[in-house]
Amino acid sequence: MRQELVSKSIMEDIDKQVELILELKKQRNAVILVHNYQRPEMFRIADYIGDSLGLSVKAAETKADVILFCGVKFMAETAKILSPDKTVLLPSLDAGCSLADMATAEKVKEIKKAHPDAAVASYVNTTADVKAVSDICCTSANAVEIVNSLPNKKVIFLPDRNLGRYVQQHTDKEIILWDGYCFVHDKLDADTLSEFKQRYPGAKVIAHPECKEDLLKLSDHICGTGGMAKFAKSDGSKNFIVVTECGMTEKLREDVPEKNFLSFCNICPYMKSTTLPLVARSLVSNMHEITLPQDTIKNARKAIDRMLEFSKNAA
Ligand code: 13P
Ligand code: SF4
Repeated sequence: MRQELVSKSIMEDIDKQVELILELKKQRNAVILVHNYQRPEMFRIADYIGDSLGLSVKAAETKADVILFCGVKFMAETAKILSPDKTVLLPSLDAGCSLADMATAEKVKEIKKAHPDAAVASYVNTTADVKAVSDICCTSANAVEIVNSLPNKKVIFLPDRNLGRYVQQHTDKEIILWDGYCFVHDKLDADTLSEFKQRYPGAKVIAHPECKEDLLKLSDHICGTGGMAKFAKSDGSKNFIVVTECGMTEKLREDVPEKNFLSFCNICPYMKSTTLPLVARSLVSNMHEITLPQDTIKNARKAIDRMLEFSKNAA
């Protein structure tokens, strides 16, 4: 009984917080963009929920005065680059990304000098400074197609070595790999997944390409977070093992209620650092506004625009 009372009061609190945020959002003419890995309650305040590519498209299109990002810093920076006249807010100061921090613009310039004929293809999980020295951006949804679309025979791919290796297996181009990784995906282990699969025979494995190569070999479908629901809906199987950040399973259960989803996952602390109270505070006091130097915006925009242009033409 005590437990029930506690749960009820927490839910009432969440309902009140959601109501307050929806009111503040109206007052500020704000749009709230939410990544698939966020806490489930964040989905209730979202104008759009999606993967990195979908979120960038929405950030470029919006007519709102304020873009509030429930995601991580590189996503909010991308929104600022695409909509520089708007106020872009990232409620949590802890919403970084250790993968994005593994590449620096100085190091990219150094490698470019050693390979002057190579194009630089940067995953969107990079800082604005790195985007500014890149030729084109990509996400997990379009990395292979973007690399294959480049006129260069050689491509410097950064910063994720697992996604880079996956791209390498789907292209004739020479890929120069960067040694970065996402600890959330990289520490998921193939032997443990094998045991997990034996416990659920017949369940199909859907894995994010930031996972290691030996694990990807055990998977039935490899895609970014945006492709997971599409695969689960179209595939004949009833049961799926979802190999990525844990929040994705919640999202798939909502989007594809007729199927069963089991998690083989780790939590991304950066993604989970955004909470409803922080969002409310952010809308009241512009906490924390993303600002970038004009020339970084100008140079980084070229690489992101090339990716968005490619996606538009490919659609
Ligand atoms: P997606 O683009 O697939 O949503 O991935 C973003 C991310 O941070 C993966 O770790
Ligand atoms: Fe970065 Fe990995 Fe978290 Fe994605 S899951 S935001 S790549 S640390």
